[in-house]
Amino acid sequence: MPEISEIAVPEYDLDIVGPDAVRDPAGYFGALRDANPVVWDRRSRSWIVTGYPQIARALRDDRAFSSDRIRPFIDRKLSGPDTDPKVRAAFDVLANWLVFNDKPKHLRLRKLINQAFMSKAMERLAGRFAELFETVIAAAPGSGEIDLLQDVAVPFSASVISEMLGVPPEDRYRFADWHRLFGPIIGASLDDASRYDLLAQGVEELLIYVRTLLARYRETPGDNLLSELIRARDAEEALSEEEILATCTLVLFAGSETTANLICNAIIALIEHPGEMARLRNGEVAAGPAVEEFLRYNGSGKAITRVVREGTDALGVPMKAGQRVFLIVAAGNHDPLVFDDPDALILDRMSERQHLGFGYGLHSCMGLQLARLETAIAVPGILGRWGQIELAGPIEWHPQLLARGVKALPLRVSP
Ligand code: HEM
Repeated sequence: MPEISEIAVPEYDLDIVGPDAVRDPAGYFGALRDANPVVWDRRSRSWIVTGYPQIARALRDDRAFSSDRIRPFIDRKLSGPDTDPKVRAAFDVLANWLVFNDKPKHLRLRKLINQAFMSKAMERLAGRFAELFETVIAAAPGSGEIDLLQDVAVPFSASVISEMLGVPPEDRYRFADWHRLFGPIIGASLDDASRYDLLAQGVEELLIYVRTLLARYRETPGDNLLSELIRARDAEEALSEEEILATCTLVLFAGSETTANLICNAIIALIEHPGEMARLRNGEVAAGPAVEEFLRYNGSGKAITRVVREGTDALGVPMKAGQRVFLIVAAGNHDPLVFDDPDALILDRMSERQHLGFGYGLHSCMGLQLARLETAIAVPGILGRWGQIELAGPIEWHPQLLARGVKALPLRVSP
């Protein structure tokens, strides 16, 4: 048996945000998975992991694979005297996002934030989702051409996140729009300096806004997540103002676009599978299992990033400290080792194994119940509003590696 360090590493020159990978990630990365579930990509200088068992293993193993990919970047690139203080301040906010932290800070933040997520205020909010959706769908045209993304999915997810955090209705759309600041940095490349100015400018405005809200809820607590985050404390301490600000911006980023994208991805999958659409319409399939299948089949998260902490052979190849690892959940979720007939959309598929659409392990999505509920209300609600739904134009996907979402979803609808 050869030692792991002697195993020849499969090397490729991939185009991980090229047209084929963006149009059909399950197909592009699936072909790679079937040839080799762990490869080194020379172009992106990253490991590309496409097999379900390997992805699950990496997400479980926080000793070998770190989530801390912002702090080392700040130390390397943004600590010099020439760095614009606004850019530095914006990255300091990102460095406090729990998703970019390892133990022990991650565990402390997750526990405190979880208290806030599990509160009575959040339970009551879940009860309001249907009302919020009704308001949004009632404002969309009854027939003709619509953009489902901007007319329904974005306003719905924006109103949920804003109401959840305690953003007053009049500021809702301005607030929700700030999530755009983070996408280009998180979803693309940290090294692209041209995106920093946009981030820095916007984050400054966003933080001023959230600080004002925080001051208001410190004085007079409300029935919302910000008030719960102020209240959350453990034996040692409460969340600091910086941590609350970071969490608020993380929830805005993690919770709005992801859900809006999932709603659109689900409708696209149904248009491509009219038989499944009919089964959901006539109640043969319940919304709950259907949402899980949407997350597996064409979820809004395509990949998750980790960094090799110390040299490891946990995935069967020699990986070196500091190397970047892209875990392609879009391929893992179609792995035939785990899912029967993986490329078929089967809304009531009762898989024994959990899909990876919400991640897995220590960092698994904290908003998954909210996202499930939102989608389980929105997708049947859209089918209920329009008896006829068809594509009214070609679909263009955002050319990003981490997120899967359309630029617009043009539909022709009628009652
Ligand atoms: C369909 C919608 C959503 C998808 C596909 C999604 C997906 C994910 C994934 C894959 C992760 C793991 C990231 C990693 O391991 O590095 C994650 C983490 C997280 N998500 Fe979501 N998410 C969704 C909705 C939401 C919502 C609605 C919220 C909040 C209201 C939220 C809050 C979070 C938070 C706070 C984390 C960080 C957890 C940690 O690092 O411990 N997500 N999400």
